[in-house]
Amino acid sequence: MSEKPLVLVTGGTGFLAVWVIASLFQQGFRVRTTVRSLRRAEEIKKELRQAAINEEQISSLEIVQADLLNDDGWADAMKGASFVQHVASPFPDGLPKHEDDLIIPAREGTLRVLRSARDAGTVSRVVLTSSAAAIEGGHSHATSESNPYTEKDWTNLNSNQVQAYAKSKTLAERAAWDFIDKEEKEGGKLQLTVINPVLIMGPALGTNASTSLRTVSELLEGNTPGLARVSYGLVDVRDCANLHVLAMTHPAAKGERFLCVGEGCASLLDIAKTLKKNFGPKASKVPTIVLPNLLIRGVAIFLPVARLILPDLGLEKTYSNAKAKEVLGWTWQYSNEQAVTASAESMFKFGLIKV
Ligand SMILES: NC(=O)c1ccc[n+]([C@@H]2O[C@H](COP(=O)([O-])OP(=O)(O)OC[C@H]3O[C@@H](n4cnc5c(N)ncnc54)[C@H](OP(=O)(O)O)[C@@H]3O)[C@@H](O)[C@H]2O)c1
Repeated sequence: MSEKPLVLVTGGTGFLAVWVIASLFQQGFRVRTTVRSLRRAEEIKKELRQAAINEEQISSLEIVQADLLNDDGWADAMKGASFVQHVASPFPDGLPKHEDDLIIPAREGTLRVLRSARDAGTVSRVVLTSSAAAIEGGHSHATSESNPYTEKDWTNLNSNQVQAYAKSKTLAERAAWDFIDKEEKEGGKLQLTVINPVLIMGPALGTNASTSLRTVSELLEGNTPGLARVSYGLVDVRDCANLHVLAMTHPAAKGERFLCVGEGCASLLDIAKTLKKNFGPKASKVPTIVLPNLLIRGVAIFLPVARLILPDLGLEKTYSNAKAKEVLGWTWQYSNEQAVTASAESMFKFGLIKV
């Protein structure tokens, strides 16, 4: 029997990446992952045990050291790989000192991964984790069921509403498509597929929880007196990981980007109500009062972290998952309520919420 293909997943210490690794193992692939420090290797294995991956697969996981900011290790990381899932990219919980702190690892790191995938000669397709932030930024208008955000939309980098993280994801994705176009023109065979997830929730498998779960922990810890009038497209991390794996081998995914959204949008108030309903006394600090936009704008003058939500304040947003459904046959399994509840349960379990 021939060996299953080897997949390289970048950034195995990440919230989404570890679920992508789990999903690949569940489908029988061999997996290698990169980390910035080999000291983090055991954390990944521990997290895979939480995802019920068997010990034989866990011990087969290859872990190599590579940083998006330099070339060391990338040639070894790619050796013999058939596919690459490029998931790693900085996702901080605040505004960086300088936007280049995010843009350089995101864009130059993506190009480094693509170049080394091409040079390896064995990789047929790279799946890049971009973001809905590369789709929706700088469009300060509401969307609706009949006019949702789709893969045709691109973040408008000329808008001063676009913050460093959205810029980093947009520039990285643009650079990836430019690289592949040039390769194709020169007869190269490397393929690119891009996944653009909305806000990812769902269970963390350990203490490596993403910034995206902060929305839930901040509410449970009662860190805000009230709720901003914002809504988020949500997808569960398990559904998002499945779409990454599906898009990796599906012939129709070649050269396409896919918005990755589950049931749809939830307002911060919806999320707060879910926590109140499902966590009783443990959710006693969760606020349910919606604060006026003007107040939030005022607070943001003094509190830099509050500025992160300003571009979304008061906007109704709708995202379409029709393309992933129609082209790839993907469907989401976890509702918004399940994703939010699983996020909170896992953060309580791993001591990430101080109530
Ligand atoms: N979570 C969401 O809501 C969401 C939504 C849309 C798109 N995304 C995208 O999904 C991907 C994964 O996000 P996540 O939520 O899983 O975030 P995460 O848990 O913070 O994971 C980010 C990963 O990137 C790695 N990384 C950062 N800078 C790096 C560098 N210079 N060199 C090598 N690795 C580096 C981190 O490594 P360390 O552990 O060493 O820091 C970590 O493994 C990112 O591309 C993110 O932009 C996330």
